[in-house]
Amino acid sequence: MRRFEDATVVVSGAARGIGEGIAVRFAQEGANVVITDLLDEVENTAKRIADEYKVKTKAVKLDVTDEEQVVAFYKQVEQDFKHLDVSVQNAGIITIEHLEKMSLKDFNKVVQVDAVAEWLCCREAARIMVKQDKGRLINSSSGQGRKGFIYTPHYACAKMGVIGITQSLAIELAPHHITVNAFCPGIIVTEMWEYNDRVWGQMLSTDKKQYKKGELMQEWVDAIPLRYAGKPSDIAGVIAFLASDDAAYITGQTINIDGGMFMN
Ligand SMILES: NC(=O)c1ccc[n+]([C@@H]2O[C@H](COP(=O)([O-])OP(=O)(O)OC[C@H]3O[C@@H](n4cnc5c(N)ncnc54)[C@H](O)[C@@H]3O)[C@@H](O)[C@H]2O)c1
Repeated sequence: MRRFEDATVVVSGAARGIGEGIAVRFAQEGANVVITDLLDEVENTAKRIADEYKVKTKAVKLDVTDEEQVVAFYKQVEQDFKHLDVSVQNAGIITIEHLEKMSLKDFNKVVQVDAVAEWLCCREAARIMVKQDKGRLINSSSGQGRKGFIYTPHYACAKMGVIGITQSLAIELAPHHITVNAFCPGIIVTEMWEYNDRVWGQMLSTDKKQYKKGELMQEWVDAIPLRYAGKPSDIAGVIAFLASDDAAYITGQTINIDGGMFMN
C-alpha cells in the first residue's frame, strides 16, 4: 500500500526506536520524511531510509524544547516541501527516581520534552496546516498516560497531559479539517525499554528478588494479554492508519498500542 505518495511527514525523535519505525513506515508508503532528533545518528537514519525506499528525506538535529529551533524548523519545512501533511510528535525521555531524590529540574525537564514540546510542535505544524485547511497531528503518550507507575510521577504527568493537549487541540483545529490524535505504546523494545528494565529492575529489587537483565520487563510482558513486547513497527502501522484518509472521522482520540496491557 502506498497511501502517502509525495506527502510530507515530520517525525520527531526519529534517529532510532519508535520514531525511526514510524519514519520507515511512511517512507515505505511513498512519503517524503523529515526527521528530527538531538542525536547525530539522525543523519544516518535519514540516509538509510532514502536509500532503501527511494523517497526524499531530510535530517535535522534539533531540540524539540527549544522554541527558536522549532519555529525555524517548521518554517524551513514549509519552504522546502510547500506542504505538510502529517506531524508526529514522538520525541521523549524518561527518568526513574525516588520521590525524595527527584529534583524539580529533572521533573520539569521530562514535562518539557514529553508534553510541552509536543504542544509546541503542534502549534508550529498547525500554522502550515491551517493555511492548507488540512492535516494530521499525532502525539506520543504512553501506558503512563492511562495509569501512573512507581518512581515516574513526572512522566505520568507529561503523558497524561499529552492526552489533554490532544483533546483540546482537536476541538480547536477541527474547523480546519486537521485531526489531532494520540497513541499510548505499552512495552516496546527500544533503548528506552532497556533503560526502564535496568533502572526499574534495580529499584524494584529486594533481598528476596533480584532482577537480572531482561527479567523485570519479561515479568511485565507476561502480564500482557498478548504475551509479547511490541516492536516499533507495531506502533508505526497504527500511526499510518491515523494519518490516512480512512481515519478522517477520528479526532481527539487516544489509542493504546500495547497488546492489551491497558484497556481504558
Ligand atoms: N519504548 C517504550 O516502551 C515506550 C512506551 C511508552 C511510550 N513511549 C514513548 O514513545 C516515544 C519514543 O520512545 P522510544 O522508546 O523510541 O525511545 P528512544 O529513547 O529509543 O527514542 C527517543 C528519541 O527521542 C529523542 N529525543 C529525546 N529528547 C529530545 C529532544 N529534546 N529533542 C529532540 N529529540 C529528542 C532521543 O534522542 C531519541 O532518539 C517517546 O515519547 C516515549 O516516551 C515509549
